[in-house]
Amino acid sequence: MTGLLKEIATRRANRALSDKPLSEDIIARLMTAATYAPSCFNSQPWRFMAVTEPEALVKLHGSLSGGNYWAKKAPLLVAVATKPEFDAKLSDGREYALFGCGLAVQNLLTQAVSEGLYAHPMAGFDPLIVKEAFAIPAEYIVITLIAVGYPGTLDGLSEKHVAAEQGERGRKPEAEVICHNSWAFD
Ligand SMILES: Cc1cc2nc3c(=O)[nH]c(=O)nc-3n(C[C@H](O)[C@H](O)[C@H](O)COP(=O)(O)O)c2cc1C
Repeated sequence: MTGLLKEIATRRANRALSDKPLSEDIIARLMTAATYAPSCFNSQPWRFMAVTEPEALVKLHGSLSGGNYWAKKAPLLVAVATKPEFDAKLSDGREYALFGCGLAVQNLLTQAVSEGLYAHPMAGFDPLIVKEAFAIPAEYIVITLIAVGYPGTLDGLSEKHVAAEQGERGRKPEAEVICHNSWAFD
């Protein structure tokens, strides 16, 4: 594989995290990678909270849904937030604040691969708990928490999650999602 495809293909939503701490340098590179994402009118709508201190991590743990128990091992949890007013709203429903956050998150995930880390975005958390615990103003949308850590062991993972850790990547056939030169989808 050439270009960045190897890193892109290597990235998986792994759950077998180690609790080994990450260096400040690594965290800084992850966060810088996120901020290098493109955004509409360069509005940079993303806001990140990188959480490593035990007391702050516990506050985020309290927001996680039951199925995300494994993320409590992560030495770094990154909360990603935006406000709709931080980016353009253009015709025909094109709202770019969340779009920009997605681009930034993917940069962080790809940098994590190159650092030998797992980085796993999650929607399974209660954003109101996060906002209250950290006094984040109500108008923010906390769109994801990202669990980041070194690869660890399968200890503590549910059977389902052990199987997912070792399973194939699930993707639709490309013909179902990609067309060329004329529109092919219902
Ligand atoms: C926005 C978003 C939210 C997700 N939320 C969760 C989650 O709460 N818990 C979880 O275990 N995985 C979560 N995932 C991971 C997806 O399940 C995973 O990316 C998908 O199954 C594809 O697997 P892959 O990333 O290994 O290719 C989320 C992924 C994204 C992009």
